[in-house]
Amino acid sequence: MKKSDSLAFERILKLRKELEEHNRRYYVENKPSISDFDYDILMNELITLEKRYPQFSSVVSPSVVVGSDVQSQNAVNQFVQVAHKFPMLSISNTYDKAELALFDERVRKALQHNVNYACELKIDGTAICLTYIDGRLIRAVTRGDGANGDDVTRNILKINSIPKVLSGSGFPHEFEVRGEIFMPWKSFDELNLKREENEEELFANPRNAASGSLKLLDSEEIAKRGLQALFYHILYDQELDYTSHWKLLESARTWGLPTSPYITLCESIEQVYDFLDLWDVERTGLPYPTDGVVIKVDNLLDQKILGNTSKSPRWATAYKFKPEQALSRVISVDFQVGRTGAVTPVANLEPVLLSGTTVKRATLHNLDQIRALDLHINDMVYVEKGGEIIPKITAVDLSRRDSIIFPVAFPHNCPDCGTPLVREESEAKHYCPNQFGCPTQIKAKFIHFCGRKAMDILAGEATIDQLYEKGYISVLSDLYKLTEEQLLSLQGWKERAADRFLQSIEKSKNAPFSKVLFAIGIRFVGEITAKTLARYFGNIDGIISATKEELLQVEEVGEKLADSVMAYFKEPSNLLLISDLKRLGINLEEKRSEESLSDKLAGFNIVISGVFTISRDEIKSMIEANSGKSVSSVASTTSYLLTGENPGPSKLQKAKQLGVPIISEEEFMDIIR
Ligand code: IVH
Repeated sequence: MKKSDSLAFERILKLRKELEEHNRRYYVENKPSISDFDYDILMNELITLEKRYPQFSSVVSPSVVVGSDVQSQNAVNQFVQVAHKFPMLSISNTYDKAELALFDERVRKALQHNVNYACELKIDGTAICLTYIDGRLIRAVTRGDGANGDDVTRNILKINSIPKVLSGSGFPHEFEVRGEIFMPWKSFDELNLKREENEEELFANPRNAASGSLKLLDSEEIAKRGLQALFYHILYDQELDYTSHWKLLESARTWGLPTSPYITLCESIEQVYDFLDLWDVERTGLPYPTDGVVIKVDNLLDQKILGNTSKSPRWATAYKFKPEQALSRVISVDFQVGRTGAVTPVANLEPVLLSGTTVKRATLHNLDQIRALDLHINDMVYVEKGGEIIPKITAVDLSRRDSIIFPVAFPHNCPDCGTPLVREESEAKHYCPNQFGCPTQIKAKFIHFCGRKAMDILAGEATIDQLYEKGYISVLSDLYKLTEEQLLSLQGWKERAADRFLQSIEKSKNAPFSKVLFAIGIRFVGEITAKTLARYFGNIDGIISATKEELLQVEEVGEKLADSVMAYFKEPSNLLLISDLKRLGINLEEKRSEESLSDKLAGFNIVISGVFTISRDEIKSMIEANSGKSVSSVASTTSYLLTGENPGPSKLQKAKQLGVPIISEEEFMDIIR
């Protein structure tokens, strides 16, 4: 092989490997590590090389194969796989108008006539395919690998704007409609804010949040995520009179299917350019994320003639917008101490408009980030909206650097209590270790404890500030010892406010155990984990005395979380707090639900694996209702491995090795009957 050929081959292999890894992160984990823009650059390089060196092309190259959102073989897939009737293709894309001109040329040459293009915004969410028969929603399936997707019907039913039954007339007897499930910026910000408060991992962007939400096992949670849908493609195999994609979408709107109002029919590629220029600016004011414009040949017969390649239709292409950025000046940098003591540098900026909101602050994450940017006060910086609640600084514009700049100095001591900061080797952040003495951390713990999702006590930041400054509260249980007299001594407090506060304190004693567990602020124990732990162990003593191994048995509990729970209950002052709360009448045990049907499974630990005729959630509830426990991994303490279709091979093997009985869904039903 010539040297240049072998170099090209090496590069091709490297690019394929990298792109496959990025596909996995994007589609399966919903945690991309590079921007779409950088991904597209890699993909374009691969496509160019494969064109130039056709001898190295491959039918399984990521340039040919559609990325897949189907859970990997190893993970237990909770969703039933469904084959798409019509493959769900991807779409070619470009950032370059000259390439659009080539697309237009190819289209007109193949058809031998001019065409109208339907231009639509490319919504940055996750694709869904719905099937309607006789106007009723039958099924909802994700794109998957384009050929097979996950059946997420149960979850889709929770999205209000998607019609379960169509209105009007003229829809095909059976048809598929494809569209995008997306999360508006506002819902995304709220979700990440909640996750940040709960110390849960943040979603990198609304697209990942939308697709992550669609794959949730708890469909009730989906209803709370503010997901929306817009539909853009209708497929059927009947003979119907529709000849225009644009008109077909207009009809779909009359059937009750949400479609984008921003769709324009263009008679030439120049008109397409005008649409692109308009929306590159206007999109910043939209309440949801868009990453480009999809340009489609409007005539349905023309679409058929042009056909598809194995990966994408020849009658459509996408023009993508570069990521939205704003340029602003750094005025100063604050160092914020959080509930857990983590110190986050936050830059104060000259106000600037970005993705529809005025940005005044941007996160800098940690010291490494400041160093990597070589950031100075007075620098002009680029800001982008990522997954964070506040935007992030992505680069410094060195060409605009003033002569008057000052390096950003990271503090050695806690900006609040002065304790020397520490940084664990494995962590990127600095921490103030003074968790029981640092006022900011203590006050933040109270605010979290009183939160609506926690004990729902009527005390905001200002009240906590006053109570703390006056020395009335220092540990959480002090809230329950406050007197009316003390409350009336607070600035602006009258009897009515004090009474309402005391009532909310009394009421909080009845909060479910899971809320108390969430409220006490164990690191990494968010709302959902608290519920799981409360249900599994039943009371606080069960959790306090649990070994790490026992904790790891609980579904969704990993090393980090188990270590954190262990560390929390090792701390004498935390144990003191718990006994104080117990004495004060706070609810520290899970009330057995009335649904508890029997004790038939009391003392049984059951692992479930595979696909069942009912949802896994329902199976789990049945186990719990019969006093059993559903655990995540097979161990010697496992009573049964309950298997549906396609159980995980590693679980099967482990059960066989350890002699754990393997039972079917039918056998399980017999046991509880
Ligand atoms: S048409 C066969 N129209 O972008 C044509 N796609 O990268 C199917 N998307 O998988 C796609 N907005 O998830 C089309 N107005 C729009 C769209 C759109 C967003 C997504 C869709 C598709 C991806 C292509």
